[in-house]
Amino acid sequence: MVKYSIAIAGMLSLLSACKPPQKSASSLDFDPYHYTVNKKLEAENGAVVSAHPLASKAGVSILKSGGNAVDAAIATQLALAVVYPNAGNLGGGGFMVARLSNGETVSLDYREMAPGSAHRDMYLDAAGNADLEKSQLGHLSSGVPGTVAGLFASHQYAKLPFEKLIQPAIELAEKGFIISASEARSLNSLQADLKKYNSEMPVFVKTIPWKAGDTLVQKDLASTLRRIQKKGAAGFYEGETAKLIVEEMKRGKGIISLDDLKNYKAIYRTPHSFDYKGYKIVGMPMPSSGGLLVNQMMKMIEDKNIAAMGFHSVQAIQLMTEVERRAFADRAEYMGDADYYKVPVKMLSNEVYLQTRMKNYDPAKATPSSIIKPGELLRAESEETTHLSVIDKEGNAVAVTTTLNNSYGSRTVVGGAGFFMNDEMDDFSIKPGVPNMYGAVGGEANAIKAGKRMLSSMTPTLVLKDGKPYIVVGTPGGTTIPTQVFQTLVNLLEFNMSTEDAVYKPKFHHQWLPDEVMIEKGFPVAVKEAMQKMGYSFSRERGGIGRTECIRVLPNGKFEAVADNRGDDAAEGY
Ligand code: DON
Repeated sequence: MVKYSIAIAGMLSLLSACKPPQKSASSLDFDPYHYTVNKKLEAENGAVVSAHPLASKAGVSILKSGGNAVDAAIATQLALAVVYPNAGNLGGGGFMVARLSNGETVSLDYREMAPGSAHRDMYLDAAGNADLEKSQLGHLSSGVPGTVAGLFASHQYAKLPFEKLIQPAIELAEKGFIISASEARSLNSLQADLKKYNSEMPVFVKTIPWKAGDTLVQKDLASTLRRIQKKGAAGFYEGETAKLIVEEMKRGKGIISLDDLKNYKAIYRTPHSFDYKGYKIVGMPMPSSGGLLVNQMMKMIEDKNIAAMGFHSVQAIQLMTEVERRAFADRAEYMGDADYYKVPVKMLSNEVYLQTRMKNYDPAKATPSSIIKPGELLRAESEETTHLSVIDKEGNAVAVTTTLNNSYGSRTVVGGAGFFMNDEMDDFSIKPGVPNMYGAVGGEANAIKAGKRMLSSMTPTLVLKDGKPYIVVGTPGGTTIPTQVFQTLVNLLEFNMSTEDAVYKPKFHHQWLPDEVMIEKGFPVAVKEAMQKMGYSFSRERGGIGRTECIRVLPNGKFEAVADNRGDDAAEGY
């Protein structure tokens, strides 16, 4: 097994070694007080890549004890809800795309849903202006959470009892774990919001700043997890937890009711699949735009021989920018929850249509986006979602992307229950043409309606080769998600790059509006200057775009697992 650790690993061990908490009897086969961060490995039996080393370890420990990739994905998500509260969640939602050992592909929608009393204009003030604070922060910004329903719905493909899969999360919450420097920074940056959007102060509030090596213990969350362990999904959607959620909502003018919780259902949907040069690419259908957008972008480059242009060449980046622009223009107009709005998926993925979209593509200059309203990217540095990729030797491959929307969601923790609620309502178009926190605009297709699910960009994706798992990939990053998955796929399938390079090399993003190319630190300056001469505008450089977690099956059948180097993300396997 190829394995190396990054600097943080040593630092964590050192810090935690200074004051190790007393270790009591535990069923965990890893130590939450001393752990390393593996960025890359090769494994024969199974692998998990996620945003947190302890969550990846929890997943692999389940694989080792006889679980399959679905078992591991469930355990990893539950562990993330504890060790990665910025995005791992019980109070949010997500999507799973899986290829099962019997060859079947499935996709599961456990996206949040607008509460029963939600309505189109609920975020407009008396003058008709959008109130972004209400859609992005605090109680009213939350949709009905879908994660717990999704975990139980996916469990039908798992092998081990749910009670076992949730056990690592319970122990991590009850006994605590050591936080890293970036987690400490992130919690410290949150203190003012936590005080503002909570009536009962959660464990994350601290009088002296958090620092690397501190132990985070979450007793209320452990109790919630125990209720789920004992009562199944009803331990969340009914009884004590549901009561605590509704009481919390009432304290802060939120509108999620007991009926909303009781009626929430995760839904199996037909995956959005398409063929690309002999590969089958399997993605998420509506209410995620991800699968369709990747389909559109891949098909718009398919006949262009991008491999000959070369990675990070001006021609390749200009072409990819133009296809990203066109796909996102369609997103704004046509995409939303297909149970509520007729999304013309067939037309939008039709190859003739896509070729027509490229008729006005000019390799020598930018095609300007028609301006509706420039989208301001708000709080881009604090956005957060999380993706995990899992594979096993039985032929199961699972891609899950899950979120509270931005970092720590609404910033409201359910009093007595210990978990953050999402601020996913902001993913609806709260007013036509008004950009959401990712600068995305929309209209009728994505307008708010009770029971409707807000349009997502999350893009958990599988690539199958000869019908078998080849690549498992996904990332957080708001609207940059589909463009990053697109770029990672092009890097692997067209530029023949190593998995590490495909994930680590700087990325870029265009989403039609605002009409500018967003680039990551390290993006080649010469390309930027050449494209500026062609008429492109660039936004300021971003520190990191997303956190891609990728597993690729090597020709010898081993799993190559790569965790993004943009965070504490970690790969585990055996
Ligand atoms: O579903 C969506 O598209 C967004 N709520 C995802 C948010 C996200 O990726 C934030 N993280 N980086």
